[in-house]
Formats: sequence, C-alpha cells, structure tokens
Amino acid sequence: MDTESFREGPEKIDTLFLKFLYYSIVSIMPAFNFDRIADQYESYYDTDLGRQVDHVERQLVWRYMIHTSLAKPVLEVGCGTGHWTTFFRQKGLELNAIDISEKMLEKAKEKNPKNVNFEHMDVENMTFPSRKFDSIVAIATLEFVEDLDRTLNEIYRVLKPGGYFLAGCLNELSEIGQRKEENDIYRNARFFTPDQLNEILSRFGDPEIDGCAIIEKEKILDYPDIDRIEKPIRLKKGAFLTGLVQKSK
Ligand SMILES: C[S@@+](CC[C@H](N)C(=O)[O-])C[C@H]1O[C@@H](n2cnc3c(N)ncnc32)[C@H](O)[C@@H]1O
Repeated sequence: MDTESFREGPEKIDTLFLKFLYYSIVSIMPAFNFDRIADQYESYYDTDLGRQVDHVERQLVWRYMIHTSLAKPVLEVGCGTGHWTTFFRQKGLELNAIDISEKMLEKAKEKNPKNVNFEHMDVENMTFPSRKFDSIVAIATLEFVEDLDRTLNEIYRVLKPGGYFLAGCLNELSEIGQRKEENDIYRNARFFTPDQLNEILSRFGDPEIDGCAIIEKEKILDYPDIDRIEKPIRLKKGAFLTGLVQKSK
C-alpha cells in the first residue's frame, strides 16, 4: 500500500459534513471529451478579448510559479494543446506534460517545444512513482476530470513533500461562472469558488489564492496589469483563480 495520504487531524463534525456534501455533489462528473474540439480549442486566443485574458492570466500564474522549484522538471497535468506548456518553456522550465486526449496532445506535440516530455496519461491513474516531482501545475484541468478526489490523491502522491502544486481554475463567482450554462464547454465544467479552491488545496498545506481576468459585458477590466484592481475584487470577480500550495514536509 502507498503510504502517501492527505494530512489528517481532528475536525469538527459540521466541517466534515460540509466536506461530505461538497464531494458528493461535485467530485464525480461525466468526463468531457476534448478530442472533438481540439482543432478549434485555441481560436479564443486569436480574439482581442482572448489575447488580453491570456496576458493577465500569465502574469498571475508566473507570479506564483516563480516561487516553485524551477530547476527541476515540472509536471503539467492536462496540458491540452500545449498553450501553457509553450509559455513555461519560454520561461526556461523543463516539463513532463500529460493529457488524456490524444487529439489535444497531438496539437501540443506539433508545437515541438524543446525539453518537454509529452505522455498520454490519465491524471487519475498516473504511472509515475510516488514523490517524483518538485512542482506540479494544472491549468483549467481540475474542472474537467471525472473524479476530483482521485485526481487530487494522485497529484498528492507524485508530489514530493515540500513540493508545490499550482492550480489555475475557473471562478464560479465570476460573470462567466454565473452564466456557464450558456456555453457548451463551461456547462460541462466544475467551476470553483475561491473558498472551494482553498478547501481542496488545504489538504496539501496552507494555500494562497488569487484571481484575475475580470470580464464584464465582454470587456476586461484588469488588462494590462492585474494590480489595477484590488485582491478582494479579483477574488470575487476574476474569471480565473490560481491556488498555490506547498505540500507539508
Ligand atoms: C480546458 S482543457 C485545458 C488545457 C490546457 N491546460 C490549457 O489551459 O490550455 C482541459 C484539459 O484537461 C484534460 N483532461 C481532462 N481529464 C483528464 C484526465 N483524467 N487526465 C489527463 N488530462 C485530462 C483534457 O483532455 C483537456 O486537454
């Protein structure tokens, strides 16, 4: 049996009940098949709004990634078409990048980034040994996995004690979160509130959560600098949340 498991400690009954409710409702979801949208997946980044959103999201992600262990290969789970993989490469990172969709991975490989080891793999059943990686990143992936609990268990297992996990997620409180039923892809996604993201990451250690990409009526308000808007508003209205957590040693 693997000895890696989440931190446990005394918890109040009401906290346990809320956790039980949360995991019963959102942990298991039908998988969304990205193969069928791989060809159009990146077209959003060709629009003005997409470019601006990308710019602020990169600012926020890099603000946190810089604290992680950059000298070692980073594991990117759900790398998709390699949009973020290419960005991390430009920043000098070496990566192991996995995805369950063959078509999304094909697109990522076409970009041919150096020092990236792409593998077709399910994050819920990774073949990596325990405690292999110093840093793991998942951008817009936790929203789409079938079994969130199992995914977090696997990420925890392959992360070294003292290693960092960075999750980028869509914010349930934001305008797009409130209107997600109108969008074919978002309708199949599990969005997170900042509190929920904090809750799932606190199994690893003490997370830090932030937000960006405040979009109102198709206009972005925090472009080009996320600090134009204060953190409490970023957390409430930002379409994109990041959570960084260091696994307890
Ligand atoms: C919204 S896309 C995000 C892709 C990329 N991270 C980005 O931000 O552009 C979600 C990705 O997660 C992948 N995914 C979903 N479930 C997965 C699983 N169980 N194991 C590995 N990848 C998975 C999908 O195939 C898809 O490529």
